[in-house]
Amino acid sequence: MNELRRPPTDPAFRADVLAGLAAPIRAIPARWLYDHRGSELFEAITELPEYYLTRTDFALLDRHAGDVARIAGTGDVVVEFGSGSSTKTPLLLRAVAPAAYVPVDISGAFLRQSADALQGLFPSLPIHPVEADFMRPFQLPAAVAMRRKLGFFPGSTIGNMVPGTAVDLLRAMRQTLGVGAFLLIAMDRVKPIETLLAAYDDAQGVTAAFNLNLLHRINRELDGDVPVEAFAHRAIWNDGLSRIEMHLEAMEDVRFEVAGARFEMRRGETIHTENSHKYGPRDARLLLTAGGWTVTDEWTAEGDTFAILLARADPLRFAP
Ligand code: AVI
Repeated sequence: MNELRRPPTDPAFRADVLAGLAAPIRAIPARWLYDHRGSELFEAITELPEYYLTRTDFALLDRHAGDVARIAGTGDVVVEFGSGSSTKTPLLLRAVAPAAYVPVDISGAFLRQSADALQGLFPSLPIHPVEADFMRPFQLPAAVAMRRKLGFFPGSTIGNMVPGTAVDLLRAMRQTLGVGAFLLIAMDRVKPIETLLAAYDDAQGVTAAFNLNLLHRINRELDGDVPVEAFAHRAIWNDGLSRIEMHLEAMEDVRFEVAGARFEMRRGETIHTENSHKYGPRDARLLLTAGGWTVTDEWTAEGDTFAILLARADPLRFAP
C-alpha cells in the first residue's frame, strides 16, 4: 500500500506480532483482535443465538440492579472499566442514581463516543471520562475523590485474562477505587462443552471472521503477505485451564513475511489468539478474594450458566 496513505502502525502491535509469531508456542495478545472491523464483528457476535453471554449478563443486570442499589446504596460514583455500553450501563445508572459516572478506557475515541451517548440519556448526570490503562492503578478525577465508588466490569471480560493477570487487575481496581468501594463484576460459568464450543464457533461463521480478521489486520498494517485463506478458526476447550481458546490453524504448510521478517508454519500448527476462562462458583470467589475483594452477593442465571458478583474492598486484615 502507498506509504503516504497508510495510518502509522502502532509500534506495540508490530512488537507483539513479531514476538508472538517467532515464539515456540505462537500467540498474539487478544487485544489486537479489536481494530475497527474486529469491534464491528464482536458487536455482531453479541447478537448471535449461540453467544449467550451478552444477553444473559443484560438479563441478570436488569433483574438485579435494584438489589445492587439496595445493598451497595445509591449516590455513589460509578466507575466503569471499559468505555460503557449503550444497553447495560443505563440499567445500572438508573438503579443506583450515582452522584457521577466515570467511564475509563484506553481508547479516547470510544470513550468520548459512549460518554456523549450516555450524557444524552442522563442529561444532569456529571460524567468524567478518564483515558487510562485500567490494568494499573490510576488517579480518579478530583471531583469524585470524596465519594464512595462502585466499580462496574460487565461482560465477563475478566475471563479474557489468565488468572495471574486477572488478580493483578482486581488489585489495581481495589487500589483505584479505595477501601469501602464495591465492585459489580460478571463472570461466565463452566458449562457443557457443546454449549461453549457453539458460542465460540457459531454456525454463521461470525466468530471465525472475527478471529481471521487479525490476519487481515497484520497484512494491512504490518506489510504482511499471510495467506489468510490457508488458515482456519479453531475454538478449543482446555479443561485443565478451564478456558475456551481461540486459535488460527494453518491448513497447509505456509511461508509468509510480516514487517520484513520471514515465518514458516507447518500444516496443523496454530497461532493462539484468545483465552476465555470460565469460573465455577468457588473459583469466582477465590479469584476475587485473591484480588482483595470480599464477595457479598452473587446472582446467577437459570442453570447457573452465568454470574454477576458484588464484592466489597474491606480493610485488609492479618489472617492465619
Ligand atoms: C470480550 N469477551 C468477553 C469475549 C468472550 O466471550 O471471551 C470475546 C469473544 N471472543 C470470541 N467471542 C467473544
